[in-house]
Amino acid sequence: VTTPLIERFRDRLPVGPETPIVSLGEGSTPLLPAPRLSERLGLELWLKWEPANPSGSYKDRGMTLAVSKAVEAGASAVICASTGNTAASAAAYAARAGIGAVVLQPEGAVASGKVAQSRIHGARVLQVRGSFDDALSAARALADRGTHALVNSLNPHRIEGQKTAVFEIVDELGALPHAFVLPYGGGGNTVSYARGLAELGGRARLVSAQAADRRRTVATAIRIAAPAHREAVESLDAEVATVTDAQILEAWAELARLEGLFCEPSSAAGLAALALDPPRGKQVVATITGHGLKDPDTAARIAPDAVLVDPDPDAIAAAAGAA
Ligand SMILES: Cc1ncc(COP(=O)(O)O)c(C=O)c1O
Repeated sequence: VTTPLIERFRDRLPVGPETPIVSLGEGSTPLLPAPRLSERLGLELWLKWEPANPSGSYKDRGMTLAVSKAVEAGASAVICASTGNTAASAAAYAARAGIGAVVLQPEGAVASGKVAQSRIHGARVLQVRGSFDDALSAARALADRGTHALVNSLNPHRIEGQKTAVFEIVDELGALPHAFVLPYGGGGNTVSYARGLAELGGRARLVSAQAADRRRTVATAIRIAAPAHREAVESLDAEVATVTDAQILEAWAELARLEGLFCEPSSAAGLAALALDPPRGKQVVATITGHGLKDPDTAARIAPDAVLVDPDPDAIAAAAGAA
């Protein structure tokens, strides 16, 4: 039986005996060695595989707490603006809690798997004519009216829940690594990691990788022009790295080919930053934030096409080539 994240880290989270626990078995995700990428980069790379969370992204760590606290406070519905993963997670946890969910997504800019996830959980999915930033402003304004609990990362419980990834990593490694690297969209996860580190009382480099073209990047999960946590990220001891779409896609494809791990493009932003300036010989943990199946269209556009053959062994052997 998987211990709910809130139970595992109860003494480090703002919960009391009365807090109902809305859990889908989140957290306790694998920390995987990456031998080929380690060799290529000349360092010891570990991957925190957050797609193993129930909705397929790290968002579930914060959402279990945000929805549990919303239920404790008597909320009957949650609302969020989202580039897709927050929406999928909010929809899943709201379904589990038996409350409503309204998710706002920038029109035409959310990967198909995430839209399908939100819809199948019964959330009210609204496509907003505008950017993620426009959708977030509207969600905040509506939440201020008191009808819906806001579960974006502006909700402090999201930040609290997400810091638990750092505790898990340090538990497993037995010590702090030289560096953590992760993608930087709105910055909530960077703030969470910094908090986790501060609570452990340790020091490690924290490298946050943003897309060079924040408004148009192929990595739709981090297509956020005005990060909600920018000021907080700037005030932290974090290093912000900037990577192009070509660098993100190269790191993404390499992870799939060399290590057998299929993530969504945004999740490879940290690896792309690492490749630009690898700290040789050091131990590094890259957080892989979301599953590749959420964005099958980008993979279909870029990966080699399937070849059509007759069901004939000779034809198949000829078509199989060296594989
Ligand atoms: C898969 C994925 N990676 C990274 C991020 C960016 O994280 P943050 O907004 O916490 O900086 C997001 C945000 O939506 C995401 O969905």
